[in-house]
Amino acid sequence: AMQRSGGMLLKLLNDALDLARIEAGRLELEPAPFEPRQLLEDVVQLEQGLAHAKGIRFVLEVAEDLPARLLGDALRIKQILLNLASNALKFTEHGKVTLRAQRTEEGLLLSVSDTGPGIPEASQARLFQRFEQAEGPQRRVGSGLGLAICRELVEMMGGSIELESRLAHGSTFRVRLPLAVPASSVPVAWAPGRPCHLLLVEDDTIVATVIRGLLEREGHTVVHVVNGLAALAELAHADVDAVLLDLDLPGVDGFQVARLIRQRERAGQHLPIVAVTARSGSGDEAKARAAGMDGFLRKPVSGERLADALARVLGGADAPMPA
Ligand SMILES: Nc1ncnc2c1ncn2[C@@H]1O[C@H](COP(=O)(O)OP(=O)(O)OP(=O)(O)O)[C@@H](O)[C@H]1O
Ligand SMILES: [Mg+2]
Repeated sequence: AMQRSGGMLLKLLNDALDLARIEAGRLELEPAPFEPRQLLEDVVQLEQGLAHAKGIRFVLEVAEDLPARLLGDALRIKQILLNLASNALKFTEHGKVTLRAQRTEEGLLLSVSDTGPGIPEASQARLFQRFEQAEGPQRRVGSGLGLAICRELVEMMGGSIELESRLAHGSTFRVRLPLAVPASSVPVAWAPGRPCHLLLVEDDTIVATVIRGLLEREGHTVVHVVNGLAALAELAHADVDAVLLDLDLPGVDGFQVARLIRQRERAGQHLPIVAVTARSGSGDEAKARAAGMDGFLRKPVSGERLADALARVLGGADAPMPA
């Protein structure tokens, strides 16, 4: 119950912050090449559990001519789809939810259809405004911000969102986005990579819960330990892809833990280690590097920065450490 309440509070906080940022003109899109199919599969993977729990099918239909790569803010596009998909699953009790994607002249057409209760015509336009919810039993599960955020994000991208719905027949939300196909030489900057098994060493349980949540949302599995000795014990018997290491741990600190990990490695072995720290000093990064760490993240961390740091250390041994 605590986890669920915490999750709902975090969502509300993030939604409110997003709207505040939009209002202040401070939300900036970060367009980069991304793989639309991968993004769609991520959305399905993230929502599949909820669909399964409700006994609803969640289907992905991707048109064959969908471009392999597009230029856009993948994180925000994913946010839009997650909002629409979670609504569809929340309000639908029987049948299925379908996520479709196809190419259009100006870019991409995404749609989320459900076989739920439908939305009365009178309230259709209103629901894209903040805090607007139709009457119904699920009203308490949410605050009526999801669709307002979707509309704002879609408009920032120069696109449009529309709703077609018939009572008792279901609803379809369509999102049209003008997205260009990137020049093929530009590498994919943000690919939600393969799922990894990660070791998180963090003594603050709240910070650990947040980081773990962010990582699990990307499909990673996480083992969390609260001190350096437990980390070494874990590494002695488990295979992990990378370590996220808090620098200020009780007892053996993060620098020492990193050195111990490096000392125990055999020739040719190199476990990627990312320092995660609340420190703000300028010398800490060099110290972390000297202790054998490959990446450096300052708290508070966001999902994007975590994914970025992981992509860097997992991408190859010679990837530069972020400035
Ligand atoms: N697929 C759908 N089927 C039926 N009604 C829907 C659907 N999607 C949205 N609605 C209606 O639109 C309202 C607004 O949706 P919106 O996503 O903005 O808010 P919410 O889901 O209630 O809360 P939040 O998204 O902030 O958690 C919902 O409360 C619901 O009444
Ligand atoms: Mg919603």
